Amino acid sequence: MSTSSLFQTYARADIQFERGEGVWLIATNGRRYMDCASGIAVSGLGHSHPKLVEALQEQAGKLWHVSNLYKVPAQEELGQLLVNNTFADRVFFCNSGTEAIEGALKTMRRYHYANGHPEKTRVITFEGAFHGRTMTALAAGGQQKYLEGFGPAPQGFDQVPLGDLEAVKAAITDETAGMLIEPVQGEGGIRPVDPAFLRALRELCDEHGLLLMLDEIQCGVGRTGKLFAYEWAGITPDLMAIAKGIGGGFPVGAFLATEEVAQVMQPGTHGTTYGGNLLAMAVGRAVMETLMEPGFLESVQRKSLLLKQSLAEVVDTHPEVFEEVRGSGLMLGLKCKLEAPKVLKAMRDAELLPVPAGDNVLRIMPPMIISEDEIKILTQKIAEAAKALETEAA
Ligand SMILES: Cc1ncc(COP(=O)(O)O)c(C=O)c1O
Repeated sequence: MSTSSLFQTYARADIQFERGEGVWLIATNGRRYMDCASGIAVSGLGHSHPKLVEALQEQAGKLWHVSNLYKVPAQEELGQLLVNNTFADRVFFCNSGTEAIEGALKTMRRYHYANGHPEKTRVITFEGAFHGRTMTALAAGGQQKYLEGFGPAPQGFDQVPLGDLEAVKAAITDETAGMLIEPVQGEGGIRPVDPAFLRALRELCDEHGLLLMLDEIQCGVGRTGKLFAYEWAGITPDLMAIAKGIGGGFPVGAFLATEEVAQVMQPGTHGTTYGGNLLAMAVGRAVMETLMEPGFLESVQRKSLLLKQSLAEVVDTHPEVFEEVRGSGLMLGLKCKLEAPKVLKAMRDAELLPVPAGDNVLRIMPPMIISEDEIKILTQKIAEAAKALETEAA
């Protein structure tokens, strides 16, 4: 038996970090690793970003927590920043992505209940999805490997293949409440959804009185080069779950909605002890202010192009190791030809830290503050790792 005090739910790599600086994580043995995944799309502004550190330290000296029974101006302020820059009119703050999914799904059902259609409870979801680890979020994701052994899954989800519009149409019944989709699937293997498909879903929702709910927990908050990925498709959702990047490493989640939808959630319908915590709001605000600085998102777009092109060259030069590079913005995936865990090990040996996803993909999602020189280092090191694998195989 392991001597660890922890549940053994992770096959943890034997690396420990003691500090972070920008895109770099410094291990206790002194090695400097490049964080190529931002802690799975969380540390979008890198580690120890001075503005985030300042915001947290300043708030820590004033007040940490007040109950949501009182007015919390810091929530209003971060909420307003989100409202000003998205489709949404209202925001509910929680602590994680899964909670945001759960709250938004409750809102979707309540919307139909309040509008005289309590039978509209079912949600169309898409194969390869991942929406989190509560029972409901797992049921929405529909992946058997995560559901196994946990008893009856909550009901109400109809899953169809990603991109199959005819299957979506066939799945719509009188009981359908809406659709839930990630504009870029993360855990599923960095699979961007065709903008035309998102537009078609929007049209279908409008035609049938359904709500379109987006999961931008991984792909949102600047990662694709727009504040939210749905902007690339030129549509707006009715509901959206966010988390990860909005806290820059401090736990924050939120769900956002139009007024028409949000107003069905009256006092008592939903709640949280920690959601909207003052430390979380201070950091979230610093994140939003940084992303909204003129030129920030444009710089993400420029760097995305450079990174994608450089990775495409690496893929071309090492076809025995990699099959393709795909994704959007700084949310990229290297589909491996060799087994991904083997490639992951070689990359870690080269002091790079990508994270695996489905479909034999390694996610390359560096902090958005990565410099062009650091992009060069990243791609050179990936090429070195690929060469080492080829030499080993020869
Ligand atoms: C798209 C997506 N939805 C939901 C979640 C769940 O978020 P959390 O782990 O914060 O509960 C994740 C986490 O990886 C995610 O990538």
